[in-house]
Amino acid sequence: MDRLDKVISATGKKSRKEVKLLVRQGRIMVDGVPAVAAEMKVDPETAEILLDGEKIRYEKYTYLMLHKPAGVLSAVEDSRQRTVLDLLPQELRRRDLSPVGRLDKDTEGLLLLTNDGALAHQLLRPKSHVDKVYYARVAGELEASDCEAFASGMTLGDGFTCMPAGLEILSPCEALVTLQEGKFHQVKRMLAARGKPVVYLKRLSMGSLRLDETLTPGEYRPLTAEEVEGLRSTVNALISTERQKMRKGFC
Ligand code: URA
Repeated sequence: MDRLDKVISATGKKSRKEVKLLVRQGRIMVDGVPAVAAEMKVDPETAEILLDGEKIRYEKYTYLMLHKPAGVLSAVEDSRQRTVLDLLPQELRRRDLSPVGRLDKDTEGLLLLTNDGALAHQLLRPKSHVDKVYYARVAGELEASDCEAFASGMTLGDGFTCMPAGLEILSPCEALVTLQEGKFHQVKRMLAARGKPVVYLKRLSMGSLRLDETLTPGEYRPLTAEEVEGLRSTVNALISTERQKMRKGFC
């Protein structure tokens, strides 16, 4: 059994404070009767909880899409600097959420936060090759030869050979970069190796999950059921491709 406000706030849709008010306004029903208190105990697996007549689904895991602003670390905690977790209200910070992958401190854009360790692991495994798309602005002029270098798998200064990547030029100093891996500073290092240092970087998507552009930097929202399902399908498709390759002896 769990407190009603805890069960609802775990969905990321309402804070505990809001639940308190909604209960007072008689807008929450539990098993057909108006909720009496935000602290009342409910069985999250079986109770029917309605908010304004709409069913609140119990969710074992929390999935949030954050529009990461520049200036915060993609970490759970840091003794000196603000992290992405500091952008969330207390009740969500208690949910053991972690960022799925890292964006540099000065990079903005899509960051998935979840406590579903299995899904996060599948998305981050080096073998998963989930597409990540970034918008990059550079100093210098991008040219067709940069696209060819990205597509052929560049070797960086430290000897690391990148997987083939996409570079779609939008204007002489802007491009969309698609990577299937996520090495430290990878977009910046690839573009710097072409003599076009990045001056602004924003992640737009990860697999099927796209940044909701209605979120301003620093804002977050829960993923929809379709978005969660989309990520699971991405991961399952990658696993089954990997298995097929193993059966054929490619790995
Ligand atoms: N590549 C980078 O260089 N930085 C990021 O934050 C993400 C990808």
